[in-house]
Amino acid sequence: MEILNELNERKRRDIDDFLSFIGIYEDTKREKALKKLLHKEKKYIKGKTCVEAGAGSGIFSIYMAELGAKKVYAVEESKTIFKLLKKNVENFKNIIPINKRIEEFEPDEEIDFLFHEFYGSLLFDESIFSLYELRFKPKRIAPDGGRLWCMFIRDEEILEKDKIYRREWKEILKGALVLDLFPWVKFRNDKKIIGWNYKKDIKKEFIIELKEKADFIGFASEIVHDEESVLKTWEAKNWAIVFTPKVSDKFRLKFSYKGGYTEVKFVWI
Ligand SMILES: C[S@@+](CC[C@H](N)C(=O)[O-])C[C@H]1O[C@@H](n2cnc3c(N)ncnc32)[C@H](O)[C@@H]1O
Repeated sequence: MEILNELNERKRRDIDDFLSFIGIYEDTKREKALKKLLHKEKKYIKGKTCVEAGAGSGIFSIYMAELGAKKVYAVEESKTIFKLLKKNVENFKNIIPINKRIEEFEPDEEIDFLFHEFYGSLLFDESIFSLYELRFKPKRIAPDGGRLWCMFIRDEEILEKDKIYRREWKEILKGALVLDLFPWVKFRNDKKIIGWNYKKDIKKEFIIELKEKADFIGFASEIVHDEESVLKTWEAKNWAIVFTPKVSDKFRLKFSYKGGYTEVKFVWI
């Protein structure tokens, strides 16, 4: 969903926040998968002090309260989304909505469990790095891992399905990571290119070698916890797949945490 008309920066940001918010909440596959994960983690939630980092509508904060959490801090940075969050959790006495970036949240008690859904289409391009900037140390974080997958696409496949595609697009789009360029693509997780585990070291720069023949490559992420798959995001409704023409056999992908957002640099080498 995009805004068509000219708006001042502040208003545009508010509406963008709101639109991304309603976009993910009609995604029942995502909701089910993450609730299933929380249910599995029940023993770390029941009777415990929990945090939801980036609480959005609060559906998962509410679910943690229903699983018996003693207290849930629902931390959300966006002012616009926070207004809706506050309303949604007002009947839950043990959910405390906090309008802050998670990096600035300083609870004065021990946090047993932190839940987040900070995954981007390129795994690290949303807010995963925020988890390394916390001012408190949760005893357990979930989900605690992820994978970035790549798919190889040949011109023949595109030409067969896409009436407007021309081979010249590859030159025009060279070096650009484009969200949902081919909306008809059914993602195949041909090759895992990045694995992330919270307990191990996090890397922000990757040199990826792909010798496979392809005209375009597609990227999509997977949510993982305790080394088990939680959600293949390409099977959920509103998660974008990222496409780019395959220009050579090697590229550099670099993520820089900018204290509120993550910048992505991508270069073929
Ligand atoms: C993908 S949504 C997930 C919302 C909710 N947890 C859910 O799964 O339904 C991410 C939310 O986190 C918020 N957010 C992103 N980075 C944040 C940060 N560093 N601190 C607090 N909130 C953040 C966004 O505004 C957005 O509402």
